[in-house]
Amino acid sequence: MTETIPVDALTEGEARVELARLARDIANANADYHGQDNPQITDAAFDALKLRNAAIEARFPALKRADSPSDMVGAPVADGFGKITHALRMLSLGNAFSTEDVEDFDTSIRKYLGFDAATPLAYTAEPKIDGLSLSLRYENGLLVQAATRGDGEVGENVTENARTIADIPQQLQNAPEILEVRGEVYMAHADFAALNARQEEQGGKTFANPRNAAAGSLRQLDAEITRARPLRFFAYGWGALSAPLADTQSAALQRLGAMGFAINPLTQRCLTPAALVAHYQQIEQRRATLGYDIDGVVYKVDDLALQARLGFRSSTPRWAIAHKFPAELAWTRLEAIDIQVGRTGALSPVARLVPVTVGGVVVSNATLHNEDYIAGRDARGETIRDGKDIRPGDWVQVYRAGDVIPKIADVDLSKRPEGAQAYAFPRQCPECGSAAVREEGDAVRRCSGGMICPAQAVEKLKHFVSRAAFDIEGLGAKQVEQFYRDGWLGEPADIFTLKARFGQGLQQLKNREGWGEKSASNLFQAIDEKRNIPFHRLLFSLGIRHVGEAASALIARHYGTWDVFVAAMDQAAAALDTPEDCPAWQDLLSIDGVGAVMARSLVMAFAQPTERASIARLVAHLQVAQAPRPKTDGSPVAGKTVVFTGTLEKMSRAEAKARAESLGAKVAGSVSAKTDLLVAGPGAGSKAKKAAELGIETIDEDAWLRLVQGL
Ligand code: IVH
Repeated sequence: MTETIPVDALTEGEARVELARLARDIANANADYHGQDNPQITDAAFDALKLRNAAIEARFPALKRADSPSDMVGAPVADGFGKITHALRMLSLGNAFSTEDVEDFDTSIRKYLGFDAATPLAYTAEPKIDGLSLSLRYENGLLVQAATRGDGEVGENVTENARTIADIPQQLQNAPEILEVRGEVYMAHADFAALNARQEEQGGKTFANPRNAAAGSLRQLDAEITRARPLRFFAYGWGALSAPLADTQSAALQRLGAMGFAINPLTQRCLTPAALVAHYQQIEQRRATLGYDIDGVVYKVDDLALQARLGFRSSTPRWAIAHKFPAELAWTRLEAIDIQVGRTGALSPVARLVPVTVGGVVVSNATLHNEDYIAGRDARGETIRDGKDIRPGDWVQVYRAGDVIPKIADVDLSKRPEGAQAYAFPRQCPECGSAAVREEGDAVRRCSGGMICPAQAVEKLKHFVSRAAFDIEGLGAKQVEQFYRDGWLGEPADIFTLKARFGQGLQQLKNREGWGEKSASNLFQAIDEKRNIPFHRLLFSLGIRHVGEAASALIARHYGTWDVFVAAMDQAAAALDTPEDCPAWQDLLSIDGVGAVMARSLVMAFAQPTERASIARLVAHLQVAQAPRPKTDGSPVAGKTVVFTGTLEKMSRAEAKARAESLGAKVAGSVSAKTDLLVAGPGAGSKAKKAAELGIETIDEDAWLRLVQGL
């Protein structure tokens, strides 16, 4: 066998020859595998050929062949990475935008912990690096795995690529047996400029900003390409650990520094919110000369025991926040306003702009939110922008904050072209012509066409297959659009009958453009793999308004099984007008994180006959896995109903409730025959009396803390 030249070292001539060889070898391997049923190479070797082909094409896009093997699969190149489930989820951070927000952060932490204003409470403040997060797992001091954040639960395995980054130690001294180090991979400004210059020279792809360059470089299928890219890494935290690193965030960071990780030198310990903001301002002043992008300052509670008490909301820690720098701004011309129809029928106005660079990124589209926003009003009908409306042709101010979609902030009336007409928001769906209605209290106008509206149907399907939903490999937004257009798919249930309808000998699918025999059979296999689906994913995939990923998880955990949940929805649907009297409604509303608006949207989805029937058709093809119960091994309160009353002195009500729920208890607001335990602080009145009458066990706060201590 000839030695393989690393992709990054290939000359153009060599690359051309190599692509031809790969096209031939892959075609032969395919023929052996499918045609003769007699594979000559292993699956891994086959995958390696495909990966190398994709990597060469990525480096020399102009050399891609008409018969390129990459076009024979439905899946994007990124699917070449293995998946890794994080031992501890990788979360994101809540944001603060003002000094007031920072003070509120401190106040709510004190409230949660039951600390008064005089109790000392230290924080750390460090730059928020604008790169991508990476989790590095060390076992007995050796780097064994590196994973991107992905959706927070499952990331991509980029171990080989991470090994090429000089800032990432391969081996650690004095590390706990298991240590997951978390931090940010980024590219310095100078390295970014040099990389883009080199790419330009070689006719390769250039990157919009250092963060994209860092992400693109880390997520290379050929680690040799990553090696040639100057990536860096700052450690800022950790995931799973076999032993604590220290007692405080600052000491833990120092320990990571001593192990060989780069720790940001601008990290500082601060004792008051005012000191946090002062440090933020110092960092902001130095921002332009740091040599790498940052987009704010992260504040964390220093004491790790307090961090543990504070815990997490559904996707962000209570003990940390990102204080963001103000958004970046630019002015440009608004060429037109287009309307996009989303999966819930929302008509969303999109600004088409003369392209303009905002904070290093070229922006040509921005959101205009809704018709009131265009007219110069907010959701309550009050004027915004001094009441100035936005018209096609206007000179508008665009801003971007972090990752979010660019927005229009302002309009310059002195530059308004003569004869510019106020924008008339459509009253009909531009996609299906159905009436577009705006219900009382809804800021958004919606198409009333439901599933007859092609835009809604397609968007629902795209949502259904998206990453946090069914995540079917080989069936992405592009394929769903094609299949919908050709009448192969109309609703989610159709995905599970695709094979029966079109899979005959794979003839029909494999003859479609962009599909080959292997990709077709892979698709059917990927679909089959998802017939067994976790409850929360199924619920999220339905795309019910207001029911997002975090809420789906809470609901799944509450009901446990899909059947129990559906029965509860049926009961609630039967009592739409009298929710106060219906136990199913009250039970739904008792879930922490489920409010009235979400509950109504959920129940309505199940009450609506066409939607209900569509869900039933889908579920008929599935086995819905039971939601995991919270870890309550050894918990003396698992499954019990607990009531807190009186003054709690060592924790707030919120903390008490969160802790009890995490131990599998149900927390109720009033004492009844169903109550198992009353925790009564000083001043407990009628509830304690009632509990005594009913013979319910009553304990004080200290006894409660002893009961749950160490769990
Ligand atoms: S702490 C529980 N510290 O910001 C989450 N994050 O919005 C702990 N980031 O995905 C995150 N610099 O990639 C933390 N000094 C820093 C950071 C930082 C950048 C990123 C990180 C995370 C995102 C959160």
